[in-house]
Amino acid sequence: MSVSRKLPSVAIIGAGIGGLTLYSALRQNKGFKKVKVFDQAAAFSPTSGAGFGLSPNGQMCLKSIGINCQEILHPFHSMVRLDKRGNVKVSSNVFENIMSKYGFGISGCLRADLIQTLSEKAGDDLKYSHKLINIEDDTRSVKVSFENGYKDHFDVVIGSDGINSTVAEKLNIDKSPPVYSNANIFYGVIPDPDHIGFCNPVLKDSNHKVIQGTGTGEFIMFNCGPKDRQVLVWANTYVSNCAPNRNEEWARVGETNADLSNVLKRYPSEHPIHEVALLTDPERLLHFGLHYRKHKYTWSNNSRVTLMGDACHATLPYVGQGANQDIEDAIVLAKSLESLPHDQAFKNFYQERYKRTKRIVQMAGALDKLYHSNNVFTRGALDLLLTSVAKGGFVFKQLEKEIVEECPVDYKLFQTEK
Ligand SMILES: Cc1cc2nc3c(=O)[nH]c(=O)nc-3n(C[C@H](O)[C@H](O)[C@H](O)COP(=O)(O)OP(=O)(O)OC[C@H]3O[C@@H](n4cnc5c(N)ncnc54)[C@H](O)[C@@H]3O)c2cc1C
Ligand SMILES: *[C@@H]1O[C@H](CO)[C@@H](O)[C@H](O)[C@H]1NC(C)=O
Ligand SMILES: *[C@@H]1O[C@H](CO)[C@@H](O)[C@H](O)[C@H]1NC(C)=O
Repeated sequence: MSVSRKLPSVAIIGAGIGGLTLYSALRQNKGFKKVKVFDQAAAFSPTSGAGFGLSPNGQMCLKSIGINCQEILHPFHSMVRLDKRGNVKVSSNVFENIMSKYGFGISGCLRADLIQTLSEKAGDDLKYSHKLINIEDDTRSVKVSFENGYKDHFDVVIGSDGINSTVAEKLNIDKSPPVYSNANIFYGVIPDPDHIGFCNPVLKDSNHKVIQGTGTGEFIMFNCGPKDRQVLVWANTYVSNCAPNRNEEWARVGETNADLSNVLKRYPSEHPIHEVALLTDPERLLHFGLHYRKHKYTWSNNSRVTLMGDACHATLPYVGQGANQDIEDAIVLAKSLESLPHDQAFKNFYQERYKRTKRIVQMAGALDKLYHSNNVFTRGALDLLLTSVAKGGFVFKQLEKEIVEECPVDYKLFQTEK
């Protein structure tokens, strides 16, 4: 359909899930001659971060650009809701139902595994130790400058540099910083859970399950990773009026932590959180403040630069969509750049993505309020809501519709394959 228009050269700032997915998506079209990804990190780190749920929309988007990540996934079958004491209250096979309905389920994925799969595709086009410090748009091209002295020119620049985006700061649009949600999170990784003789019955039987409870904030636990390198990931959020004082968002705790003891004190002794906390090596325990970004009225400033992912719509984690929405962004942005001149491509990208990402950020914001409320009635309502979700009730169905059916890649595309 396209008249052979010269496709732009592209600098992607940030080799997170968003930036790297965009790289692979652009590479589907040979017309993109020069595409480079720059990241400030010194190198790929297999122990950075923890895991997340890769939902059907994320899996479909990756598959649509030829990335099959089944080997690095731990598929979820059921959802378990714990009561206050940490005993199983509801358990149902909601995730198997999604799988049979759409052909894609939800799986636990280590962030580092997905980053590695994606970065292998980028090869030498991925440059570590490149921290962006400036962007100058002279209307004919954009000059990017890095802390190490390297400079280059590109037709367009994509800011996929995360919640504290340097690119966002350089654009002359709303410069508001990330908003602190008055909650912090502990995030732990325990390797090889199948070979740990857990005491708690919930922990003895955690394969293929998302286990969730509420007590002091949200407690959640699931396995991630391929069979031979499985890990158990757990997290707990709690109310605070100040984020842990660290300059690295995904910082390791690395020492015994008074905040953790405070959180644990609020759970009865039979709750599984005690055992997972005890079994987590401090090197694999993360502790940080939970921030989000207010939606800006635009993600570009009529220049050759746009934002994507957490740089423009960072969400709180409660809907499990941060990485998945980022992957969707990459697919839509690549399609737009392929079919439209850059200014129209950026407008189109914004129009297609704004409402969807805003709904998700708002949903996560609403859950944040419920999880961290002190009001007994609100907590009762939350318990009813989450119990219904765990049973696959109405709210779950609505959520499933939002996540799967509003995805920019249509699940029906793959249904004839089998
Ligand atoms: C180290 C790390 C670990 C994470 N672990 C998890 C996890 O376990 N579970 C989970 O749910 N979410 C995790 N996240 C968050 C999750 O990946 C994101 O919320 C989501 O995928 C959106 O990603 P993004 O690509 O927009 O931004 P991010 O994933 O935040 O990636 C942004 C990238 O940009 C780079 N960058 C930032 N500033 C500059 C600059 N000036 N110049 C060059 N590069 C720059 C950063 O080094 C980073 O690699 C993690 C994020 C990071 C950075
Ligand atoms: C948009 O931001 C770029 C990058 O900082 C800058 O060079 C350019 O002058 C800005 N354009 C407008 C119209 O503000
Ligand atoms: C991001 O910004 C927030 C708030 O300004 C800060 O608390 C956090 O440490 C920053 N994260 C990184 C990775 O710089």
